[in-house]
Amino acid sequence: MQLIGLKLKYFAKDQLRDGRVLDIRSIIPEDKPILAEGMHHLSPASLYYRFLTPKRELTDKELAYFTEVDFFHHVALLASIEEDGKILPAGVARYVMPSTNATEAEIAFAVNEEYQGLGIATVLLRHLRKIAVKNGLKTFTALVLPDNTKMLDVFKHSDIPMKSVVTTTGVMNITLDLSNGYLQSD
Ligand SMILES: CC(C)(COP(=O)(O)OP(=O)(O)OC[C@H]1O[C@@H](n2cnc3c(N)ncnc32)[C@H](O)[C@@H]1OP(=O)(O)O)[C@@H](O)C(=O)NCCC(=O)NCCS
Repeated sequence: MQLIGLKLKYFAKDQLRDGRVLDIRSIIPEDKPILAEGMHHLSPASLYYRFLTPKRELTDKELAYFTEVDFFHHVALLASIEEDGKILPAGVARYVMPSTNATEAEIAFAVNEEYQGLGIATVLLRHLRKIAVKNGLKTFTALVLPDNTKMLDVFKHSDIPMKSVVTTTGVMNITLDLSNGYLQSD
């Protein structure tokens, strides 16, 4: 997508463990086709882990919700990977605050199947945390299925203190304490 002329609320370059460059930027309404297409780059299992229900497509209403964000209560980031001179969408992460004065927000991630295991979610978590701390948030929460080891490993490998409780529905309620471990240089 041609971004010239579009005002982004966030843009950063980062690097994967293998040295490849990642562009991290705020999601904009024009990203609807990218998010719709991203659904076709997730396996049924990954989609289930993300939405906790069987899902193949996003409705127009969901696409509007996921892309028309205020970047305060709802912060959404797109990670794109530079490959052969092209910038290809690779993953999305977001946090949503339940109310205006909340000090917590729920996070969610989806990394395209072909780019999983490269450290993209790890990088996205770092950027989400940086934005959240700047905005005064103290806690991230996440709903994760107990066998979603990839997501749990990303949290465990971050330096953010983590607690988890298994709810009556069997989903893990994760809490990440943002009040520690934040470096100004992040
Ligand atoms: C869960 C998910 C977001 C992880 O994304 P990812 O980009 O593949 O995650 P990362 O590459 O950052 O981390 C995963 C791997 O890196 C490892 N890793 C992460 N940080 C690390 C570190 N600092 N040092 C060493 N290893 C690390 C993890 O252990 C894991 O290893 P693996 O490749 O053996 O599985 C992705 O698998 C996905 O989209 N799943 C479907 C949707 C979903 O589950 N969403 C979560 C619900 S909110």
